[in-house]
Amino acid sequence: MYGEAERVLGDAIAPFRDEVFVATKVWAETEGEAERQIARSLGFFGGRVELHQVHNLRQVDYLLPRLRRLVSEGAVRYVGVTHYDPAAFPDLARRLRTEALDAVQLPLNPVARRSEEELLPVAEERGLGVLGMQPLGTGGLLTGGEGPVPPEAAALGCRTWAQVALKWSLSDPRVSVVLPATTRADHAQENAAAGEPPWFPPALRAEIARRWSR
Ligand SMILES: NC(=O)c1ccc[n+]([C@@H]2O[C@H](COP(=O)([O-])OP(=O)(O)OC[C@H]3O[C@@H](n4cnc5c(N)ncnc54)[C@H](OP(=O)(O)O)[C@@H]3O)[C@@H](O)[C@H]2O)c1
Repeated sequence: MYGEAERVLGDAIAPFRDEVFVATKVWAETEGEAERQIARSLGFFGGRVELHQVHNLRQVDYLLPRLRRLVSEGAVRYVGVTHYDPAAFPDLARRLRTEALDAVQLPLNPVARRSEEELLPVAEERGLGVLGMQPLGTGGLLTGGEGPVPPEAAALGCRTWAQVALKWSLSDPRVSVVLPATTRADHAQENAAAGEPPWFPPALRAEIARRWSR
């Protein structure tokens, strides 16, 4: 589903594979396709994946026991689930409460706030890792009309609005990591630079979310 991404990443990190935490997903309509995807991913990443996730809860009743078996065999370290659609959040929240999971991937940015109400409390209660998808609103947060970054964010190391958005999500202590997608190496470097503390205090997070929602 992500083209050549896994193969290219696997080749790039092969020389220092032990230092890298790899997260990937399986998105299949049939058990046979799921098995093929799992085998391909493990092949790309030296026979192991640190976090394997069930994409959009597809084939979840088959895949969770399957991925847990891979954990017991040492090929996978952690198991997670993902969903992008708030309509699926009740089902996702129920799974987080009742299944043996390590992580959840959910949409999170200063204007997509449903995850904060419906999923983050249960993720915290269950001690799950949280991966924030669409942290730049699929690019829609960055229209060019945002003006200069707020001085309080600049003082905490943000040069661009992309960095403000990423740091906004990462400043929630319940969030482990964010997943900004990019086709550009300069954007990847800019985005990675936002992954370090200092974090935004709650009042600044609230002000940034207010500005973006106007
Ligand atoms: N159900 C699911 O599990 C699910 C669903 C959707 C997404 N996801 C995950 O979430 C990840 C991110 O999602 P997404 O691609 O939808 O949204 P996103 O990361 O919020 O936005 C990506 C967009 O932002 C732009 N961008 C990135 N860095 C930038 C920067 N520094 N300055 C300006 N523009 C920048 C990119 O354009 P450039 O290429 O020009 O940088 C791209 O158009 C995906 O890779 C996927 O893993 C998961």
